[in-house]
Amino acid sequence: MSPILEVDDLKLHYLTRFGKKVHSVDGVSFSLQKGEILGIAGESGCGKTTLVSGLMGLLIPPLHLTSGQVRIEGKNILGLSPAESRRQVLGRQIAMIPQGALNSLNPTRKIKDLAADVILSHDEKADRTTIHDRLRERFTRIGLDADAVLDSYPVQLTGGTKQRVVIGISTLLNPKVVIADEPSSALDVSTQKAVIRMLFDLLDEGIVSSMIFITHELPLLRHVSSRIAVMYAGQIVEIGTTEQVIFDGRQPYTRALMGSMLSAEPGQKARKPIAIEGAPPYLGDPLPGCRFAPRCPVARPDCIQREQTLRTVQNRLVRCHHAD
Ligand SMILES: Nc1ncnc2c1ncn2[C@@H]1O[C@H](COP(=O)(O)OP(=O)(O)OP(=O)(O)O)[C@@H](O)[C@H]1O
Ligand SMILES: [Mg+2]
Repeated sequence: MSPILEVDDLKLHYLTRFGKKVHSVDGVSFSLQKGEILGIAGESGCGKTTLVSGLMGLLIPPLHLTSGQVRIEGKNILGLSPAESRRQVLGRQIAMIPQGALNSLNPTRKIKDLAADVILSHDEKADRTTIHDRLRERFTRIGLDADAVLDSYPVQLTGGTKQRVVIGISTLLNPKVVIADEPSSALDVSTQKAVIRMLFDLLDEGIVSSMIFITHELPLLRHVSSRIAVMYAGQIVEIGTTEQVIFDGRQPYTRALMGSMLSAEPGQKARKPIAIEGAPPYLGDPLPGCRFAPRCPVARPDCIQREQTLRTVQNRLVRCHHAD
């Protein structure tokens, strides 16, 4: 089966006011099959949201494509003009549930008007009754009290409902891939679970075909994703099954990230998290060798000189030439 999404050696940079290039996504490759949920985890600033911009084809200055491709069902979406991308790709092929989704709804408009805009942006001729029926059907299908919610302003809804509304609106056009960028970190644990459940329902209902779930809380992915990619300083440093990455990480950063978390399981006896010493490198001047080497507890002298590439270790890909 050919993958729905293929990311091929994607490199993206920000051009700063001083003419400096910040290489925030630096050689990312992975693919996504139908029905799959891929988790992407990594510390703040490692390039997760920049990667999402690339996947959506939203290359808006100061963000630029350096090289690489993002193919959806074989077609490179980075070759399209911004206008073509908006018309053909956004919302239809790939959609995003934005970081800080709770604040993404315009407070001055009712939910029905915000949702209608999405349908109208792709079908200018749709009439009000058709739109309203479509919205009612979809909101009911995703477990919302459709009439009440559609007639509300965002401020009248609870955090959990608002989050569900954002997810409902983002997926109105049945995108093949949906990307959830930290969708639940601002919510309490039970609401977080409800939101994750809802994302599964979208897959089960066939509203979306596959999903990318982004978080800095690696353990959260245990019950969410089938595979996990761990990012560090603009690169994937390990990609494997959820079990492999969470319980048997081979790249030292994967292990450090797991060790820095409170516990692998909510409710499990808390142990003392071990903070990762130091800070990630500045991506304006990437190091020649391993980017994690200056913070790595098991680094050897050659780590900072030798170029690191992803290689197969124990049936997953690892960017560390010492890993075994
Ligand atoms: N407009 C910009 N100009 C220059 N550098 C930028 C710009 N926006 C982001 N960056 C840099 O790009 C890197 C990646 O940022 P990004 O927001 O993608 O990280 P992230 O992994 O999503 O972080 P978080 O977990 O905090 O959301 C960071 O080092 C950041 O400083
Ligand atoms: Mg981010």
